[in-house]
Amino acid sequence: MFNIIITENYDQVASEAFRNMKEAVTKENPVLGLATGSSPIGLYKKMIADRNASGTSYKKAVTYNLDEYIGLPRDHDQSYWTFMHENLFDGLNIPEANIHIPCGDCEDPEEECRRYEEELRQHVIDLQVLGIGSDGHIGFNEPGTPFDSVTHVAELTEQTRRDNARFFGDDIEKVPTHAITMGLASILKARSIIVLATGSNKADAVYGMIRGPKSTDCPASVLQGHSHVTVILDKDAAARL
Ligand code: GLP
Repeated sequence: MFNIIITENYDQVASEAFRNMKEAVTKENPVLGLATGSSPIGLYKKMIADRNASGTSYKKAVTYNLDEYIGLPRDHDQSYWTFMHENLFDGLNIPEANIHIPCGDCEDPEEECRRYEEELRQHVIDLQVLGIGSDGHIGFNEPGTPFDSVTHVAELTEQTRRDNARFFGDDIEKVPTHAITMGLASILKARSIIVLATGSNKADAVYGMIRGPKSTDCPASVLQGHSHVTVILDKDAAARL
């Protein structure tokens, strides 16, 4: 069962997401699951603004990111490590040791997946933030990914690489071909989940997630089996519901 919130625009999606986030971070020792992409940037801006205005402290927060590109050093301008620091972490006071992002340029990605999953086992994520790919992926769990998958190396689909080429000077060749991603089973362990989506290019994926069959053809449909998912949409992303 999904709790579905349909708003007018991107800013309202960010506001609704922030209400959920604020509730989560007022808990003692919050564990946050974080995502990259355009969808959560508005939420992250509101978290920083709130910290500046009301001094909300993140000293005891622990964060886990969903995914990271393989092959980009962490200081690459398009690594998710850089994205998260520029768009969120530099504006909060989370101790660096509490921040967890898979290492995309370590020597043995398979070993890194095992290490990351083991770290995840030590915490339960209180609030997992998700975007959704236009092909229904969450994290980098592309269509066909088994529902019982844990952290693994994923090959990106042509569509995802095309979607993400805008961050790489519109050159698909520059978009990495593989990533490390939390698996669908790892994501499902979160206590609660918010999915943020805006724009008409997400309408089919949103429909598949909520109304489609629960099938690996639309990885986000795995969320149909979770009891606490809030989907926050603008009108365009909700157009097919
Ligand atoms: C990316 C990320 C996902 C993200 C999705 C949507 O490839 N790996 O975690 O949710 O695609 O991105 P956006 O929010 O920019 O549309």
